[in-house]
Amino acid sequence: MECHCLHSPQMSSFSALQVINLQGYSSPRRIPNKTLSPRPLCSLHSKPFLGLNDRIPPFIYPENSSHLSLRRYRGPIPAQASNQPWDFGRFVKTLNFFNGLPNPAKVGHASEFDAFKFRVQLVITSFVFLKFFEFLIKRFSSPEPSEPAKVMEASGIVLVVGATGGVGRRVVGVLRKKGMPVRVLARNEEKARRMLGQDIDLVIGDLTKENTLVPEHFKGVKYVINAASVIVGPKEGDTPDRAKYSQIKGDTPEMVEYIGMRNLINAVKEGVGLRNGKVLFGLEDNMFKDLAWCALDDVVMGGVSESTFLIDPTGSENGGPIGLFKGTISTANNGGFTSIRTKNFAAPVNLSAYDGLELRLKGDGRRYKLVVRTSSDWDTIGYTSSFDTEEGWQSIRLPFSSFRPVFRAQTVFDAPPFDPGKIFSLQACFHKFEYDGKLNPTFVEGAFQLPVSSIRAFIEDPITPRFVHVSAAGVTRHDRPGLDLSKQPPAVRLNKELGFLLTFKLKGEDLLRESGVPYAIVRPCALTQEPAGADLIFDQGDNIMGKISREEIAWICVAALGSPYALDKTFEVASVIPFSEPFMIDPKNPPPEKDYDMYFKNLKDGITGKELLEQSPALV
Ligand SMILES: NC(=O)c1ccc[n+]([C@@H]2O[C@H](COP(=O)([O-])OP(=O)(O)OC[C@H]3O[C@@H](n4cnc5c(N)ncnc54)[C@H](OP(=O)(O)O)[C@@H]3O)[C@@H](O)[C@H]2O)c1
Repeated sequence: MECHCLHSPQMSSFSALQVINLQGYSSPRRIPNKTLSPRPLCSLHSKPFLGLNDRIPPFIYPENSSHLSLRRYRGPIPAQASNQPWDFGRFVKTLNFFNGLPNPAKVGHASEFDAFKFRVQLVITSFVFLKFFEFLIKRFSSPEPSEPAKVMEASGIVLVVGATGGVGRRVVGVLRKKGMPVRVLARNEEKARRMLGQDIDLVIGDLTKENTLVPEHFKGVKYVINAASVIVGPKEGDTPDRAKYSQIKGDTPEMVEYIGMRNLINAVKEGVGLRNGKVLFGLEDNMFKDLAWCALDDVVMGGVSESTFLIDPTGSENGGPIGLFKGTISTANNGGFTSIRTKNFAAPVNLSAYDGLELRLKGDGRRYKLVVRTSSDWDTIGYTSSFDTEEGWQSIRLPFSSFRPVFRAQTVFDAPPFDPGKIFSLQACFHKFEYDGKLNPTFVEGAFQLPVSSIRAFIEDPITPRFVHVSAAGVTRHDRPGLDLSKQPPAVRLNKELGFLLTFKLKGEDLLRESGVPYAIVRPCALTQEPAGADLIFDQGDNIMGKISREEIAWICVAALGSPYALDKTFEVASVIPFSEPFMIDPKNPPPEKDYDMYFKNLKDGITGKELLEQSPALV
């Protein structure tokens, strides 16, 4: 078995397709089916050492194909007295892969003095590493009680866009009443502070100007309620039936409702997350996302355990590519761990929208660990989660709350909370030890292999909408065959005169539906200044007319954020009170807050009213 470190000159013998991501976190790569053969992604030596080829059987297990013919741990594991020759070259290459050592060969025209300095540094670094790992062994061998790990606090800001509008400012009011953290995005600072208070968490941006939607505005934002829209105003001297209702003020509907929506989705997508999760490693949409893994074994402490990481292009349960973490673990020379660790990603990955990491893997009944680092430093706290595997393919979910801060094999009880917003590297480990001196109860010496087809950040079920969008009833009606336009509200009748307002609102909705972001689209009928509290009609298919209070819409938007029933639903809302009748409440005795799930529960997937565009006349 010959392996190649990603830095090594042997790399040049790989095809361009095989050379994957030298920079850390990679961009997607298309894997042409069956063009790759299983190959090592990374190794630490260019030729076999310590009789490696003899020591690692080609994963043929003599006794039982599903169980390794190895000694299974049955009790305390004594420190091994056996000594085996240590591979100094592999040790140095491990350090080099992770940029752990200065390398004069990388520096052009290295002088003899440079080479001498390098050798001295090498010896010193090796000494320091060995001392460090001796220290680890001592720690491992002196058990201490393990306490529950410190877990991160989940939080998330709700961004309100269009917060200076009629619905938007009421949304801010409801969120505040509920004690939820709010940020608003507005075009006009003075107007926003005057309307919403000087202390409002405010960012200034214009949906139509992509360069104003900078990432800093959206740090910590996990939810969005978008009530922004093009400004429509009746011309002066309008009649009660709004005969002159045809004036667009400022930006066009195309710019606000469509381009603006596209800009907003792009700006918040990372923070609010994707319904199907974010793939860090593995196949997604026929693209293979890879990471720069390299073995990191107990060779760094004088041990002889050895692992590697291979890409097998057809190894998954459905014939797709996998990464194969495999090797031989030994307790000789006081060793007992193997791992693969990624180089630091080129830029830290933000997983704050997600609740954990899911591994799709083929287990072998053993306990492994996944370590996540939130610092670019090498020797730093690793947030670590252990997981037990069963035989065969399975998905294993590791909630972020299960990751304990570990430093030099000890839980760090006063560590900073795990911050999924800046992930620098991943490491998968098979260890003799757990943490705080505990042993891995499934530890066995000998060969092991762990095929992994994907590592994906996930949103915990039940998923609720992360982006609630206020659109409008009528968005599909202007083109509907057979519709009596004279009976439709002004916005439908005057769609063309209003710069195709509803056409672009529908296109904006479509962008959200197709974005992969968990959403809800609320389509109010004619908005009023009346209070919330009337009984409601929720409908789908874009058929109803009537009126609805802006206050009620604000409550519905906030309720939708927390309701799995509202997920990925598009629906219209009106009050049961006819347009001609005012709706009032006793302010001293306001109606109780509704249980909006009663309405959300009856909503169905996939109904937008667009279906009717290709069918017979509307049912209005
Ligand atoms: N009026 C109705 O009868 C009716 C019926 C059904 C649905 N709707 C829809 O319901 C939603 C809410 O209506 P509303 O009455 O609350 O709207 P509104 O009072 O007109 O408020 C619109 C908001 O959007 C903001 N905005 C406009 N262009 C922007 C841009 N380029 N970037 C950032 N923000 C921008 C405005 O900010 P500024 O303060 O800076 O202008 C304002 O805060 C809208 O989508 C509307 O079309 C209305």
